[in-house]
Amino acid sequence: MRIVAFVLSCFAAAVAAQPPVPAFELLTKPPRGLPAMPESPTTAPTAAMFALGQRLFADPILSVDRTVSCQSCHLPEHAFASPEPRPQGVQGRRAKTHAPALINRGYGTTMRWDGRTPTLEAFVLQPIADPDEMGHTVPNALTALRGDRDYAAAFAAVFADGITERNLAAALATFVRGIVVADAPVDRLHKGDPSALTVEQRAGLWVFESKGACWRCHSAPLFTDDRFHATGVGVVGGEALPGRSAVTGDPADRGRFKTPTLRAIKLSSPYMHDGSLRTLADVVEFYARGGNAHGNLDPAIKPLELTEADKRNLVAFLESL
Ligand code: HEC
Ligand code: HEC
Repeated sequence: MRIVAFVLSCFAAAVAAQPPVPAFELLTKPPRGLPAMPESPTTAPTAAMFALGQRLFADPILSVDRTVSCQSCHLPEHAFASPEPRPQGVQGRRAKTHAPALINRGYGTTMRWDGRTPTLEAFVLQPIADPDEMGHTVPNALTALRGDRDYAAAFAAVFADGITERNLAAALATFVRGIVVADAPVDRLHKGDPSALTVEQRAGLWVFESKGACWRCHSAPLFTDDRFHATGVGVVGGEALPGRSAVTGDPADRGRFKTPTLRAIKLSSPYMHDGSLRTLADVVEFYARGGNAHGNLDPAIKPLELTEADKRNLVAFLESL
């Protein structure tokens, strides 16, 4: 049985401006609109492992001075993104980029904006040792957990060998894998319900699929192609940041960043790897003018002929995701 948690109910609460109480519900099959999630390369998930991961995710015990948890930067009510362009880690330090939404990451084939880490399991311990994030070391974080009687018992209940580096990664990755968002109006449309989208959202979907060309990189059903493209975000005076080229060493990858999912996008402002765009209307204006010019710009990024109504409808469609 595949264990997947469903967080749509928590988003509905956040949108209704209620106190966001993440109401996780275990699913045994993929939600409408998504294929089955690829199996974890290292872990057979269980509900208890998921619950342990959820608890660790929210616990500052993993940071050097016990002030910062994963959730300090990845807020559930913001689709597990940060509301600040560069979220704050320990001792007032700042992460180098926006903390991305952690939506449907179990489907992802690379982690981080430049894709330098291949899997979720390989990634989830990195923030603990990042001096700008949790400022700790993994061995010292394990010592802190071993010193906590509750955690010793909780790990022993889930893993035969208790608190280890591998088991900490398995619990955290199992929780993040469980953050699954689907079943948007567009999924219901694709399943044959023509009334699922409003007139504006439908017109916006048409812009998305036609003259906006958004689908070319934000392709359904995950609304990401999981690849790297240069849109011109972060270009200063025509000079692009390294982006993907920092990993591959290939100059053709300069300025390329990973395409993020657009699911639950309404909640994860500010947008882009540097958090430089505050609203979805700002994002649509950015694409309408053809991004920021530089030598490596993706050929799909060029000035678009969008009317004011097209822009409004496109935003309405994005908000429905
Ligand atoms: C200080 C803020 C901060 C904290 C604390 C933090 N993160 Fe992040 N997280 C980020 C930033 C910034 C990125 C983007 C890093 C990059 O792309 O290089 C990120 C990226 C990620 C990603 C990759 C997502 C993707 O699609 O590429 C995952 C998964 C993740 N974090 C999980 C966690 C977990 C689990 C913890 C706790 C152990 C955690 N984060 C703690 C800021 C934070
Ligand atoms: C050539 C591929 C490509 C096309 C075409 C494209 N995007 Fe993107 N999109 C990206 C990449 C790559 C990023 C991340 C850029 C960065 O942060 O440096 C992104 C980021 C975004 C974000 C911010 C997501 C977040 O979590 O911060 C939104 C919203 C978005 N795109 C919407 C659109 C819309 C709407 C269109 C059509 C008008 C579109 N995109 C066309 C590749 C593309």
